[in-house]
Formats: sequence, C-alpha cells, structure tokens
Amino acid sequence: MAAATGVELGAEKSYVVQSRLSILARTLGFGHVRDLMSEVVTGKTPGLQERVVDALLNKETFFFRHPETFEALRRHILPQIQASPGRSGPIRIWSAACSTGQEVYSIAMMLADAGLCQRDGDVEIMATDYSLSAIEQAMQGSYSQLEVSRGLPAPCLLRFFRQEGHRWLVAPWLRRNIRFVRSDLFSGMVLPGFFDVVFCRNVAIYFSDAGKERLYARVARSMTPGGYLLVGGTECASRHSSTLFQEQWKNVVYYRTKVGQ
Ligand SMILES: C[S@@+](CC[C@H](N)C(=O)[O-])C[C@H]1O[C@@H](n2cnc3c(N)ncnc32)[C@H](O)[C@@H]1O
Repeated sequence: MAAATGVELGAEKSYVVQSRLSILARTLGFGHVRDLMSEVVTGKTPGLQERVVDALLNKETFFFRHPETFEALRRHILPQIQASPGRSGPIRIWSAACSTGQEVYSIAMMLADAGLCQRDGDVEIMATDYSLSAIEQAMQGSYSQLEVSRGLPAPCLLRFFRQEGHRWLVAPWLRRNIRFVRSDLFSGMVLPGFFDVVFCRNVAIYFSDAGKERLYARVARSMTPGGYLLVGGTECASRHSSTLFQEQWKNVVYYRTKVGQ
C-alpha cells in the first residue's frame, strides 16, 4: 500500500483494512479475504492488486468540507489574486486528491458565486486522485441523495444540479472548466503549468514524514510565486516544507510560496 500510494496503514488500522477487504472479497465472489489475497499474490487476475489498493484508500469527503476554507477562497484569496498587479489569464486551481469530486465542485460553486466559471477559460481547474473509482465518479459528477445531503446547501443543489432518477448530476456548465486526471501525487506526472491555488486536504495525514516532505515539495513546485495552498484542519504544511509559509485569514490557516520565488 505504501509503495503504491505513500499511504501508511499502521497496525491500529487493521480492523479497517479487514473490513474493507471483506467487502471487496464478497463483491468479487471470493469466500474469504485470504482467498482474495492469495489470488493477488499469483498476479493472474489483471487489475486485482489495483482494486485492493483502491479499496484500502480512505476516500471520505463531502461538499464544502470545512466551510471556512471555501469562505477564505471566496472572500480573501480570490480578491487578492484578482488584484495582483500585472495579472492576466485564467485563475488556475488544482484539487490534489479530489476523491469523488465534492471538493472540486465546491470550489467551482464558490467561483460561480464570485461571478467566475460562467464562460470558457476564465478559470482552469484540475482535479486529480489516485483512486480510479473515485475519479470516475468525480468525472461523472453524479451523487446519491445521501451524498448531496452532506454539506451541500439547498440553494446550491437547486442551482448547480439536476435530478435524474435517484441521482443528482452536476450541471455541465459548472463542469466544463474542470479537467479530471487519475494520477498519483508522487508520480512524475507533468502538470500543465502552475497553479494560483492548490487544495491538498486530508491526504498528507496518511503519509509518513518523508512522504509529507515529498508531497509538499511537489505541491510547492506546482504553484505560482505567491500561490496559495489550503490543507486539512489537522495538517501543517510549513512543518514539512521550507518553501511554504503560513498565513492566516480569520481562523483559516493557509500557506504561500514566496512572491518572486
Ligand atoms: C480522505 S480523501 C480527501 C478528499 C478531499 N481532499 C477532502 O478533503 O474531502 C483522501 C484522498 O486521497 C487520495 N490519495 C491517497 N493517496 C494518494 C496518492 N498517492 N496520490 C493521489 N491521491 C491519493 C485517496 O484516493 C482519497 O481520495
């Protein structure tokens, strides 16, 4: 698991591992987790190891998770970016480890609320995740009633989604500036340019200290000078990076690369 994704699963997670693998074993028709793992070891079933890694990843997410972060984007970060001297071109945002997409659509809804995302090319958003199942759902922008009931205000549901059967689908116009790519944060994937804002939340917590250093080094390299990094509530990027500096707006802590770096 750590070799594939950098995610560390310590002994204290053994219950979680067992229960996730039991569900996968049952879904794939194996009598027992033992049988599933024996099959993985043989390497005879293409893609099986990937399914196991995917099943073990924690993909927990919901709309407007930690709403203050989105408030900071809307009221503090976007105005600062828009006011920066000599700035031109689209605002570029990366949702790194976007899971099933609730984070990136929350960003897009916030941008739409600020009058952006309305026409082609005023923003460019990239959303990446290691998990194939997660990125596929993110790409489809299709959510259950339970998923939309987690964090999504009713006016947003009505404005940005339409119902189709039991699912809620994100409006195509909100999706059109978002590019979804399945990608490992540690891979050498070349990112298309630099980002003004990076959301990298609730993923570093699963990495070792060395993994966190590698992650934040990569993120910092992908940011514009003076770019903004938003992390999860319990994460601290500046502890694992010498190029990211902590700032705060209200009670939201965020990180920036040096201007002119
Ligand atoms: C707990 S979710 C967080 C989702 C979202 N950022 C949020 O805060 O709600 C963590 C995500 O990180 C992804 N992930 C874990 N290791 C990864 C790696 N090495 N590369 C890319 N994504 C990874 C998982 O697939 C999962 O979707």
